[in-house]
Amino acid sequence: MQRVVLITGASQGMGRATALYLAKNNFLVYAGTRTPHKLSDIKHPNIKPIKLDITNSENIKQVTNSIKKIDILINNAGYGLVSTVENMDEKQMYDQFNINVFGVLRVCKAVIPMMRKQQSGIIINISSFLGKIGLPLLTFYNSSKYAVEGITDSLRYELRDFNIRVHSILPGFFDTNFARDNLVTNPKTFDKNSPYSSIVSNLAPTIIKQINHGNDAIEVAKIIEQIIENQNFPSHATIGDKARKFIPMKKELSDEDFERRVREYYNL
Ligand SMILES: NC(=O)c1ccc[n+]([C@@H]2O[C@H](COP(=O)([O-])OP(=O)(O)OC[C@H]3O[C@@H](n4cnc5c(N)ncnc54)[C@H](OP(=O)(O)O)[C@@H]3O)[C@@H](O)[C@H]2O)c1
Repeated sequence: MQRVVLITGASQGMGRATALYLAKNNFLVYAGTRTPHKLSDIKHPNIKPIKLDITNSENIKQVTNSIKKIDILINNAGYGLVSTVENMDEKQMYDQFNINVFGVLRVCKAVIPMMRKQQSGIIINISSFLGKIGLPLLTFYNSSKYAVEGITDSLRYELRDFNIRVHSILPGFFDTNFARDNLVTNPKTFDKNSPYSSIVSNLAPTIIKQINHGNDAIEVAKIIEQIIENQNFPSHATIGDKARKFIPMKKELSDEDFERRVREYYNL
């Protein structure tokens, strides 16, 4: 029987690449997005664009009820807030967690009962290598991705008896629209008179450049297929150059040595 995938944030980047790749590999893919028209150029019969707002539990329930059977859930939607903590704006802070963390939990809540009744399922959360590593100006984004790691690690125990596997993928920097469309900046942090202006002018262009020269989103799609096909795939997949550089380093070095290496690398 054809396996059914629901993916969030599917209109571009990793979500779109994964939806297309899995559709071509004979999965039926419900491509959840706020903007289904952005998928209108894709004519593949295995891709079903579906309007999905991961901030709205009612909308999520309608979507999952309409699909009926979901074998694989890919929580991909996410964006990055670039702000110092001192400049925190309540709404910006809440929105960051509302999408990157509560959005993941809301969609899981809707899909888990279906998978539990089927006694099978796979949940794949797109986290980040910044879900294991801190960086200045990215406190909100990074802590949201640390939370995604926590969700993955806890849910794995909770759902194991129901034959539901939970994984996370920790990408390094990938050349998607992330830096162009989905980095939200706090104007106070980016003010030229900000006391943080040297860290901003130093780090922000470097990160943006590294994202725009990052790995190809197809790598994410391919690792997702491997997770699906291999029952024994490890819980966390580290992909992309930056993740492969920093994640093993973090495991091997003391906290102090690791921090020193990050400071040297990013000139902090
Ligand atoms: N690119 C990187 O370097 C990188 C590195 C590590 C992790 N990641 C993570 O990978 C995932 C995919 O990102 P990407 O690189 O493919 O970026 P992208 O091209 O910007 O796509 C991000 C997707 O997330 C959804 N999204 C963004 N802001 C949203 C909001 N406010 N509300 C609801 N949905 C929103 C959008 O979905 P719709 O418009 O379709 O609804 C969009 O398609 C994200 O979770 C990101 O944090 C990216």
